[in-house]
Amino acid sequence: MTRFSVNDRPVEYRMEPETPLLWALRDASNLTGTKYGCGTGECGACTVDIDGEAIRSCMVTIAECEGRFVTTIEGLARDRSHPVQQAWVAEQVPQCGFCQSGMIMAAAALLRSNSNPSDAEIDAAMTNICRCGTYPRIRTAIRLAGRVIRGEERIAAAPPPGIRPQDAVEAVPALRLPPGT
Ligand code: FES
Ligand code: FES
Repeated sequence: MTRFSVNDRPVEYRMEPETPLLWALRDASNLTGTKYGCGTGECGACTVDIDGEAIRSCMVTIAECEGRFVTTIEGLARDRSHPVQQAWVAEQVPQCGFCQSGMIMAAAALLRSNSNPSDAEIDAAMTNICRCGTYPRIRTAIRLAGRVIRGEERIAAAPPPGIRPQDAVEAVPALRLPPGT
């Protein structure tokens, strides 16, 4: 049995201690925002925060997480109010989106330790791979998030998560609005 905190909740995994954290998060906790890309520590799609550090969760066993604090993209800010999330929306960073949760987690960890990184520091910290080539917008968004964190700029609030039931019904004819909606 392995115990640690995931998104500020105590979790106990009854899995082999050698299970990669990525598998536990996705398969046992259903936290599928953290993506499986390469499984060999190269792409960064699986990046999560462990005790304040950006870590590739495919390369860490759950035994190594014992007693530590793991934060995934789902726990960064549930209402999307984190400056990195806000900057990502403002700069319209994602294309296909597959790499983006890892990118956001890496950017958030970078800005926590250095809210005003140079381009060289951004490039050194952001070693994740984006097959869609969103790197220039990622840099721009990190600079914007840094200015927000430093109190130099504000971003208009990003739209709330999810869609309205009325919009869902319009998009998917098989859906029916619950009574009283
Ligand atoms: S899936 Fe972990 S680094 Fe690629
Ligand atoms: S947005 Fe498609 S891989 Fe990065």
